[in-house]
Amino acid sequence: MLLTIEDLTKTFPGTVALDGVCFDLRAGEVHALLGENGAGKSTLVKCLTGVHARDSGTIWLEGKEISPASTLEAQEAGIGTVYQEVNLLPNLTVAENLTFGRQPTRFGMVSGRKMRAEAEAMLAGYGLDHVNVTRELGTYSVAVQQIVAIARAVALSGKVLILDEPTASLDARETETLFQVVRGLRERGLGIVFISHFLDQVFEISDRLTVLRNGRHITTADTAGMDRLELIHHMLGHELEEAEGRRRHRQGGVERLQVRGLARRGKIEPFDLTVREGEVIGLAGLLGSGRTETADVLFGRTPPDRGDATDADGPIDLRTPRTAIAAGFGYAPEDRKTDGVIADLSVRENIALALQARRGWTKPIPRAEQRRLANDYIRRLDIRTPGAEKAVGDLSGGNQQKVVLARWLAMNPRFLILDEPTRGIDVGAHAEILKLIGELTAQGMSILLISSEFDELIAASDRVIVVRDRRHVSELVGEEIETGRIIDAIAAHENGEGAMTP
Ligand SMILES: Nc1ncnc2c1ncn2[C@@H]1O[C@H](COP(=O)(O)OP(=O)(O)OP(=O)(O)O)[C@@H](O)[C@H]1O
Ligand SMILES: [Mg+2]
Repeated sequence: MLLTIEDLTKTFPGTVALDGVCFDLRAGEVHALLGENGAGKSTLVKCLTGVHARDSGTIWLEGKEISPASTLEAQEAGIGTVYQEVNLLPNLTVAENLTFGRQPTRFGMVSGRKMRAEAEAMLAGYGLDHVNVTRELGTYSVAVQQIVAIARAVALSGKVLILDEPTASLDARETETLFQVVRGLRERGLGIVFISHFLDQVFEISDRLTVLRNGRHITTADTAGMDRLELIHHMLGHELEEAEGRRRHRQGGVERLQVRGLARRGKIEPFDLTVREGEVIGLAGLLGSGRTETADVLFGRTPPDRGDATDADGPIDLRTPRTAIAAGFGYAPEDRKTDGVIADLSVRENIALALQARRGWTKPIPRAEQRRLANDYIRRLDIRTPGAEKAVGDLSGGNQQKVVLARWLAMNPRFLILDEPTRGIDVGAHAEILKLIGELTAQGMSILLISSEFDELIAASDRVIVVRDRRHVSELVGEEIETGRIIDAIAAHENGEGAMTP
């Protein structure tokens, strides 16, 4: 066995995050680590790599007991970790990112050429031949950055590679590239721990899997012999609520909002959009196609430089988020790290935040009302927290995501934009959120749903708009909404059918 963890326990004030967990990893395998939001996956990784001190438990690497007290010590022992949010420095070059801290003496006074050669050697075999190592890392896609981070981790550590939700912000093509890299490393004999909420990916890439639930080890098994429903049962401790299947498409309905020729040069070409009461409009497209840009101009995050919008009462101002909120818009963005939660504030404060901003800071929302709101959403979204007063930074990644969602729901907007609302959210909560979308729209809320998961778009949308090369290129309605047609529209070439934009 390459790595063995025995009887690992870790408690935080008020929470038993890990309760006597065992885990082992073979050389040359991909081992998926699964469980609901808050199950303890990231905590296991952090105890293993010295980010957190464990309360008790033993770790063996290649038969030798180790006890890393920092990520550096873990790296030196042979264990490297790559998180979803790439922890490299975007303003440094690719080469600098790959080599910093590695060989201090040789690189104390580095010759650029040497560093460059070193970096190129490190990247060999990762399929990044098109990457210029002297360019800033930040100029490349998240996928490339992710692979650079892996190359660095492998070069530094070389035995165990831990990937904590590495694919959460990658599209299908990028995920495939990443998987090729992972397979290559498996062949070289590395042991790889893969954490993800995408079960399809787990079945595609992993050899074995381990499920945690409420900080306890539930099962370890060969992936090939595991049935999908059985796996979900292990994760949730109960069956997945019978999915309601596909939404009954609404058509017609009162027009609530008209957008005409809205655009921002370099971001999104002019588009029209009519939003009806209680409808879900899906936005499909590849990463970088213009989906988020569409949301950004609608919400004034990127002020539009042409076009206008009206509702039943006349023109509305979408030039800034403040005016968009005043017009009844809400926007739960994708990137919870930069746009999302304020880690030091409590769950209650984070949820009340946007509502407070809308009412104005001079009219504070009474505590009791804040508490009621927070507890309501903790229950509805099943946010795993000891209570409303817990600092959000102490929640697991997926539960932080739910807090962001709750904040915008609490404002009860007329038109809510959700950018990848289920990324990083476990299968159980995933179904809950889709159900909630159904309830909210039944009460009249209109929703713009951006998602990379076709199943989700198909299940939830009344209409799907396909975005490609920063244009809205086609619209599917009702029964037309199916995977094949969405893919065709995404993949179609520029010539051929014209764009639907003015
Ligand atoms: N720094 C911390 N302080 C207090 N509690 C914490 C801290 N980090 C994690 N926890 C708690 O430990 C438990 C396990 O969290 P962990 O982040 O390991 O979950 P996870 O399985 O990675 O979930 P997700 O899928 O949402 O990322 C949660 O209840 C969480 O609130
Ligand atoms: Mg986690």
